Amino acid sequence: MAVRKILVYGNPLLRERAEEISEIDGEIQTLIEDMAETMYAAKGLGLAANQVGVLKRLFLMDLSQREEKLPQGLLVFINPEILEAEGELYEEEGCLSIPGYAAKVRRYARVLVRALDREGNPFEMELSGLAARAVQHELDHLNGVLYVDHLSPLKQKLFKRWWKKHRPREG
Ligand code: NI
Repeated sequence: MAVRKILVYGNPLLRERAEEISEIDGEIQTLIEDMAETMYAAKGLGLAANQVGVLKRLFLMDLSQREEKLPQGLLVFINPEILEAEGELYEEEGCLSIPGYAAKVRRYARVLVRALDREGNPFEMELSGLAARAVQHELDHLNGVLYVDHLSPLKQKLFKRWWKKHRPREG
């Protein structure tokens, strides 16, 4: 297992659409393990493969530290899709690829998501609140979308100004 480098805002790979995973092989299992280690090391709630520079439709979430009623433990979503969505939330989000920044974004309050687990078994999960937001945020990553894209034009302008001053220098 290895901690991988998390790409930050401005990296073109964060703007690519990730591709379906056709075979869940050893390479994917290693990717999952590395991504989990990377996510925990960065104290993130979720991590999408694009964020470590791999254009595959896969993201992880672990919401255990938040509320007891949320799904616990490491959750793996391969080739995820949202089947149903309803309601509205307007809460603050952040992203490991945009360190130090947070802003309120509009999301669906409840989603029904379908995906494959790491053994390749299909599952459906109904999620609300923070878990629903996290799924929408991570699924956006797989489509090359970042949460700041959902901000108003004015707030996007403010964000870009902020980023110029605060972006981490890549080493
Ligand atoms: Ni993110």
